[in-house]
Amino acid sequence: MKKTIIFVICFMAISLNFNKVSSQDIIMPAPDKTGGKPLMQALNERQTIRAFSKDELTLQQLSDLLWAGWGINRPDLKKRTAPSARNVQEIEVYAVLQGGLYLYDADSHILRQIHNKDIRSFCGTQDFVATAPLNLVYVADMGKLGKKEGDVIKDSDLHWSYANTGFIAQNVYLCCASENLGCVIRGMVPKEKLAPEMGLRSNQVIILSQTVGVPQN
Ligand SMILES: Cc1cc2nc3c(=O)[nH]c(=O)nc-3n(C[C@H](O)[C@H](O)[C@H](O)COP(=O)(O)O)c2cc1C
Repeated sequence: MKKTIIFVICFMAISLNFNKVSSQDIIMPAPDKTGGKPLMQALNERQTIRAFSKDELTLQQLSDLLWAGWGINRPDLKKRTAPSARNVQEIEVYAVLQGGLYLYDADSHILRQIHNKDIRSFCGTQDFVATAPLNLVYVADMGKLGKKEGDVIKDSDLHWSYANTGFIAQNVYLCCASENLGCVIRGMVPKEKLAPEMGLRSNQVIILSQTVGVPQN
Protein backbone atom coordinates (compact mmCIF):
# COMPACT_ATOMS: atom_id res chain seq x y z
CA MET A 1 0.00 0.00 0.00
CA LYS A 2 2.80 2.39 1.04
CA LYS A 3 4.67 1.57 -2.22
CA THR A 4 1.54 2.27 -4.27
CA ILE A 5 1.06 5.68 -2.64
CA ILE A 6 4.72 6.60 -3.28
CA PHE A 7 4.37 5.44 -6.90
CA VAL A 8 1.21 7.55 -7.40
CA ILE A 9 2.88 10.63 -5.86
CA CYS A 10 5.98 10.19 -8.05
CA PHE A 11 3.82 9.71 -11.15
CA MET A 12 1.80 12.86 -10.38
CA ALA A 13 4.99 14.88 -9.75
CA ILE A 14 6.51 13.74 -13.04
CA SER A 15 3.25 14.42 -14.95
CA LEU A 16 2.97 17.92 -13.47
CA ASN A 17 6.54 18.66 -14.44
CA PHE A 18 6.00 17.44 -17.99
CA ASN A 19 2.90 19.63 -18.29
CA LYS A 20 5.07 22.67 -17.78
CA VAL A 21 7.33 21.89 -20.75
CA SER A 22 5.99 21.86 -24.28
CA SER A 23 7.73 19.79 -26.93
CA GLN A 24 8.87 22.94 -28.72
CA ASP A 25 10.60 24.42 -25.68
CA ILE A 26 14.39 24.21 -25.53
CA ILE A 27 15.62 22.41 -22.47
CA MET A 28 19.18 23.53 -21.93
CA PRO A 29 21.90 21.80 -19.95
CA ALA A 30 22.79 23.42 -16.64
CA PRO A 31 25.08 26.43 -17.05
CA ASP A 32 28.75 25.83 -16.39
CA LYS A 33 29.15 28.06 -13.34
CA THR A 34 32.71 27.10 -12.53
CA GLY A 35 34.37 27.23 -15.94
CA GLY A 36 35.43 30.09 -18.14
CA LYS A 37 38.29 32.55 -18.23
CA PRO A 38 39.31 34.54 -15.15
CA LEU A 39 37.26 37.73 -14.83
CA MET A 40 40.19 40.08 -15.51
CA GLN A 41 41.07 38.17 -18.69
CA ALA A 42 37.44 38.28 -19.88
CA LEU A 43 37.34 42.04 -19.23
CA ASN A 44 40.56 42.42 -21.18
CA GLU A 45 39.04 40.54 -24.14
CA ARG A 46 35.55 42.10 -24.06
CA GLN A 47 34.81 43.73 -27.39
CA THR A 48 32.10 44.31 -29.97
CA ILE A 49 32.11 41.87 -32.91
CA ARG A 50 29.94 42.37 -36.00
CA ALA A 51 31.12 39.58 -38.34
CA PHE A 52 29.96 36.06 -37.58
CA SER A 53 30.62 32.64 -39.11
CA LYS A 54 27.74 30.35 -40.11
CA ASP A 55 28.34 28.15 -37.05
CA GLU A 56 25.41 27.53 -34.71
CA LEU A 57 25.77 27.99 -30.97
CA THR A 58 25.82 24.83 -28.89
CA LEU A 59 23.11 24.29 -26.28
CA GLN A 60 25.79 24.65 -23.60
CA GLN A 61 26.82 28.05 -24.99
CA LEU A 62 23.16 29.14 -25.12
CA SER A 63 22.69 28.00 -21.54
CA ASP A 64 25.83 29.78 -20.29
CA LEU A 65 24.94 33.02 -22.13
CA LEU A 66 21.39 33.20 -20.79
CA TRP A 67 22.37 32.31 -17.26
CA ALA A 68 25.30 34.74 -17.27
CA GLY A 69 23.05 37.46 -18.68
CA TRP A 70 19.94 37.18 -16.55
CA GLY A 71 19.92 33.83 -14.78
CA ILE A 72 19.00 33.17 -11.18
CA ASN A 73 22.10 32.94 -8.99
CA ARG A 74 20.39 32.98 -5.56
CA PRO A 75 17.36 30.68 -5.94
CA ASP A 76 16.21 31.15 -2.33
CA LEU A 77 15.78 34.90 -3.02
CA LYS A 78 14.94 34.55 -6.76
CA LYS A 79 17.69 37.07 -7.46
CA ARG A 80 19.74 37.31 -10.61
CA THR A 81 23.23 37.62 -12.10
CA ALA A 82 22.48 41.29 -12.95
CA PRO A 83 21.08 43.96 -10.64
CA SER A 84 17.71 45.59 -11.27
CA ALA A 85 16.33 48.82 -9.85
CA ARG A 86 14.18 48.08 -6.76
CA ASN A 87 14.53 44.41 -7.76
CA VAL A 88 11.48 44.72 -10.02
CA GLN A 89 13.11 42.40 -12.60
CA GLU A 90 10.95 43.77 -15.41
CA ILE A 91 13.39 42.90 -18.19
CA GLU A 92 12.46 39.83 -20.21
CA VAL A 93 15.04 38.21 -22.45
CA TYR A 94 13.75 36.84 -25.74
CA ALA A 95 15.96 34.63 -27.89
CA VAL A 96 15.43 34.95 -31.63
CA LEU A 97 16.81 31.83 -33.29
CA GLN A 98 16.48 30.48 -36.82
CA GLY A 99 13.95 27.99 -35.40
CA GLY A 100 11.72 30.62 -33.85
CA LEU A 101 11.11 33.05 -31.00
CA TYR A 102 11.70 31.96 -27.41
CA LEU A 103 11.30 33.58 -24.00
CA TYR A 104 13.92 32.82 -21.38
CA ASP A 105 12.24 31.33 -18.31
CA ALA A 106 14.95 31.89 -15.69
CA ASP A 107 13.09 29.97 -12.97
CA SER A 108 13.34 26.71 -14.84
CA HIS A 109 16.24 27.75 -17.12
CA ILE A 110 14.22 26.78 -20.19
CA LEU A 111 13.61 28.63 -23.46
CA ARG A 112 9.83 28.71 -23.94
CA GLN A 113 8.81 28.78 -27.57
CA ILE A 114 6.51 31.65 -28.54
CA HIS A 115 6.37 30.73 -32.22
CA ASN A 116 8.44 28.94 -34.86
CA LYS A 117 8.95 31.72 -37.43
CA ASP A 118 12.45 32.97 -38.26
CA ILE A 119 12.17 36.70 -37.42
CA ARG A 120 15.91 37.44 -37.20
CA SER A 121 15.67 39.92 -40.11
CA PHE A 122 13.25 42.04 -38.04
CA CYS A 123 15.73 42.38 -35.17
CA GLY A 124 17.94 45.02 -36.79
CA THR A 125 18.89 46.99 -39.84
CA GLN A 126 22.51 45.81 -40.08
CA ASP A 127 23.06 42.92 -42.48
CA PHE A 128 24.69 40.47 -40.01
CA VAL A 129 21.55 40.50 -37.83
CA ALA A 130 19.47 38.31 -40.18
CA THR A 131 22.08 35.55 -40.44
CA ALA A 132 23.74 35.43 -37.00
CA PRO A 133 22.59 32.41 -34.98
CA LEU A 134 21.18 34.39 -32.05
CA ASN A 135 19.62 37.78 -31.41
CA LEU A 136 18.67 38.51 -27.83
CA VAL A 137 15.88 41.05 -27.51
CA TYR A 138 15.57 42.84 -24.18
CA VAL A 139 11.97 43.79 -23.43
CA ALA A 140 10.71 45.79 -20.46
CA ASP A 141 7.45 44.38 -19.12
CA MET A 142 6.03 47.69 -17.93
CA GLY A 143 3.09 45.77 -16.49
CA LYS A 144 5.44 45.01 -13.60
CA LEU A 145 5.70 48.78 -13.08
CA GLY A 146 1.95 49.31 -13.04
CA LYS A 147 1.40 50.17 -16.72
CA LYS A 148 -1.69 48.58 -18.21
CA GLU A 149 -2.25 47.83 -21.90
CA GLY A 150 -3.12 51.08 -23.68
CA ASP A 151 -1.42 53.27 -21.06
CA VAL A 152 0.99 55.91 -22.38
CA ILE A 153 4.62 54.97 -21.71
CA LYS A 154 6.98 57.92 -21.78
CA ASP A 155 10.74 57.77 -22.41
CA SER A 156 11.24 58.88 -18.81
CA ASP A 157 9.35 55.77 -17.63
CA LEU A 158 12.05 53.64 -19.25
CA HIS A 159 15.23 55.08 -17.71
CA TRP A 160 15.66 52.27 -15.21
CA SER A 161 14.89 49.64 -17.84
CA TYR A 162 17.69 50.95 -20.07
CA ALA A 163 20.09 50.85 -17.12
CA ASN A 164 18.92 47.36 -16.10
CA THR A 165 19.39 46.10 -19.65
CA GLY A 166 22.92 47.51 -19.75
CA PHE A 167 23.95 45.25 -16.88
CA ILE A 168 22.51 42.17 -18.56
CA ALA A 169 24.14 43.02 -21.88
CA GLN A 170 27.53 43.50 -20.23
CA ASN A 171 27.19 40.08 -18.56
CA VAL A 172 26.56 38.63 -22.03
CA TYR A 173 29.59 40.53 -23.41
CA LEU A 174 31.78 39.03 -20.67
CA CYS A 175 30.41 35.53 -21.20
CA CYS A 176 31.13 35.89 -24.93
CA ALA A 177 34.69 36.99 -24.18
CA SER A 178 35.07 34.03 -21.86
CA GLU A 179 33.72 31.50 -24.40
CA ASN A 180 35.39 32.94 -27.54
CA LEU A 181 32.04 34.10 -28.94
CA GLY A 182 31.29 37.48 -30.45
CA CYS A 183 28.45 39.90 -29.78
CA VAL A 184 27.20 43.43 -30.33
CA ILE A 185 24.63 45.31 -28.28
CA ARG A 186 22.39 47.28 -30.63
CA GLY A 187 20.22 50.33 -30.25
CA MET A 188 19.43 50.28 -33.95
CA VAL A 189 16.33 48.09 -33.74
CA PRO A 190 13.20 48.66 -35.87
CA LYS A 191 10.97 48.36 -32.83
CA GLU A 192 7.66 49.13 -34.59
CA LYS A 193 8.25 46.24 -37.02
CA LEU A 194 9.73 43.82 -34.50
CA ALA A 195 7.14 44.20 -31.71
CA PRO A 196 4.21 42.79 -33.75
CA GLU A 197 6.40 39.94 -35.04
CA MET A 198 7.04 39.07 -31.39
CA GLY A 199 3.38 39.45 -30.46
CA LEU A 200 4.21 41.94 -27.71
CA ARG A 201 1.50 43.71 -25.70
CA SER A 202 1.43 47.51 -25.77
CA ASN A 203 2.86 47.62 -22.23
CA GLN A 204 5.90 45.57 -23.26
CA VAL A 205 8.65 47.81 -24.65
CA ILE A 206 11.68 46.70 -26.65
CA ILE A 207 14.79 48.25 -25.07
CA LEU A 208 17.83 46.94 -26.96
CA SER A 209 18.92 43.88 -28.90
CA GLN A 210 22.19 41.96 -28.84
CA THR A 211 23.45 39.78 -31.66
CA VAL A 212 25.62 36.79 -30.73
CA GLY A 213 27.59 34.32 -32.82
CA VAL A 214 30.90 32.66 -33.48
CA PRO A 215 33.35 35.32 -34.71
CA GLN A 216 34.44 35.08 -38.34
CA ASN A 217 38.17 34.48 -38.68
C1 LIG B 1 23.53 51.63 -25.97
C2 LIG B 1 24.39 51.11 -27.10
C3 LIG B 1 23.85 51.01 -28.36
C4 LIG B 1 24.62 50.50 -29.41
N1 LIG B 1 24.03 50.32 -30.64
C5 LIG B 1 24.74 49.74 -31.64
C6 LIG B 1 24.11 49.45 -32.88
O1 LIG B 1 22.92 49.67 -33.08
N2 LIG B 1 24.85 48.85 -33.84
C7 LIG B 1 26.18 48.54 -33.64
O2 LIG B 1 26.79 48.00 -34.56
N3 LIG B 1 26.79 48.80 -32.47
C8 LIG B 1 26.12 49.38 -31.46
N4 LIG B 1 26.72 49.58 -30.23
C9 LIG B 1 28.08 49.10 -30.02
C10 LIG B 1 29.09 50.26 -29.98
O3 LIG B 1 29.25 50.79 -31.29
C11 LIG B 1 30.42 49.74 -29.45
O4 LIG B 1 30.24 49.33 -28.11
C12 LIG B 1 31.48 50.81 -29.52
O5 LIG B 1 31.87 51.02 -30.86
C13 LIG B 1 32.72 50.47 -28.70
O6 LIG B 1 33.26 49.23 -29.13
P1 LIG B 1 33.55 48.06 -28.08
O7 LIG B 1 32.25 47.56 -27.56
O8 LIG B 1 34.29 47.01 -28.86
O9 LIG B 1 34.38 48.62 -26.97
C14 LIG B 1 25.99 50.13 -29.19
C15 LIG B 1 26.52 50.25 -27.90
C16 LIG B 1 25.73 50.73 -26.86
C17 LIG B 1 26.34 50.82 -25.48
